[in-house]
Amino acid sequence: MGIYSCFRGNIKVLVSIIVIILGVLLYKKYEELQHITTKQKGHRLVFSQEQLTQYNGHIQDKLYLAVLGQVFDVTDGRKHYDQGSSYHYFVGKDGSRALVTGDFKDESSMKDYVLDLSCNDLSSLLNWRQTYRKKYKFVGFLNGRYYDEYGTETNYLKQFKSKLKECKVEKMNQEKENLKYPPCNIAWSEEEGSRVWCTKTSGGIARNWVGVPRQLFTPGEEKPRCVCVNYDMESGSTNLLKKYPDCPDTATMCKFNT
Ligand code: HEM
Repeated sequence: MGIYSCFRGNIKVLVSIIVIILGVLLYKKYEELQHITTKQKGHRLVFSQEQLTQYNGHIQDKLYLAVLGQVFDVTDGRKHYDQGSSYHYFVGKDGSRALVTGDFKDESSMKDYVLDLSCNDLSSLLNWRQTYRKKYKFVGFLNGRYYDEYGTETNYLKQFKSKLKECKVEKMNQEKENLKYPPCNIAWSEEEGSRVWCTKTSGGIARNWVGVPRQLFTPGEEKPRCVCVNYDMESGSTNLLKKYPDCPDTATMCKFNT
């Protein structure tokens, strides 16, 4: 009898412990769901701005940030993002703009606005996103400038993509122009003033001609820039090209004072 009641007592204790453990586990899961009550379409996890804020190291243990509307778990990079670390600014938000401007104080609504940035800056932003994709886990989309509440891309993201296409075309045209008119070498000293000259590799463009320095005036650009022109092909090519004053037609080097 004594052994039986002792056994029954132990069972009760055991069951109580299991119930408590299950309760704690269920509560944790509930809390987690409260924080990540993400809308889903297909398997797209979408965070609201408020939900993402929870992952800035003050509320949740995990650290999340968004780049161009895509959310990454950067908990493994805690040494960069924890409170007091150099890049703490980025967690809990989409601070894409600061990835190129370096303005880690920008808490305005423009902190993820990037359409006004240069093609070089946009390309550097894409590199950042690539870095996050490779190094960290992608966890979802942010409902905001780039994606809507269902994780579908917004008009802003479409505009961003078309600007990237324009940048690609601009880059290709620039490369073509660089092949035709490679940049000169340029030096300046107090005694001599400015010196511009061409070689078979100036401007980083390897070619089988040296060229002569000319000023190329580009519409919309304030100042001309020095380019090397293949003298044999120059005649009448464009009236945007001007000789340097007091420099012989075929000289591969010109000096002038500015
Ligand atoms: C626009 C300015 C800058 C931005 C937006 C920026 C951003 C970042 C970010 C986000 C990370 C963490 C990357 C990760 O999660 O792996 C990082 C890492 C780092 N940054 Fe910067 N940074 C800037 C300027 C600088 C400068 C000027 C220096 C050096 C003087 C520097 C040195 C470093 C170093 C050493 C690391 C750690 C690299 C590693 O451990 O993998 N950063 N930077």
